[in-house]
Amino acid sequence: MNSYYPFVNTPLPYAYNALEPFIDEKTMHLHHDRHLQTYIDNLNKVLEENPALQRFSLEELLTVWRRLPCRLQNPVRNNAGGVFSHRFYFNGMKEPAAPCSAPVLFREMTCRFGSPENFKALFKEAALSVFGSGYAWLVREHAYYLKHYNMRAAYIDAWFHVVNWSQAERRFCV
Ligand SMILES: [Fe+2]
Repeated sequence: MNSYYPFVNTPLPYAYNALEPFIDEKTMHLHHDRHLQTYIDNLNKVLEENPALQRFSLEELLTVWRRLPCRLQNPVRNNAGGVFSHRFYFNGMKEPAAPCSAPVLFREMTCRFGSPENFKALFKEAALSVFGSGYAWLVREHAYYLKHYNMRAAYIDAWFHVVNWSQAERRFCV
């Protein structure tokens, strides 16, 4: 997986037809070879025209774009984001029959969402509500237990008392 300019479209970690019948081979070709390739080409073009950005890794580009001149912010954020999200997505799938096991994650899903099935329903709802391509992410939340259990509103109210706004501003201005 190359993470520096010039970016190349690394091969899928499985065959194009490996996800059949759930995702068809034709879609995988189009999505990987055309759509992801377009993000990669556009990102390379921006970096080619702005050599000072070539020293940043893909992940770094996703954090430094805010510091860039206005005209570069959207092209860098959108294209680096497109490359990162697609790679994350493609690398997060496997052949349907390939064994996999995630007991810790599924236990956590049960704790947080009632059951893995319920998590899937909520994830689907979130993905459907997103404008555009509809990427939804499961992100590990910072725990607000033990004191607040699952009372998030109470936790948030309490948390405002301990926010380091100076630090928040420093990060904001990076
Ligand atoms: Fe896509």
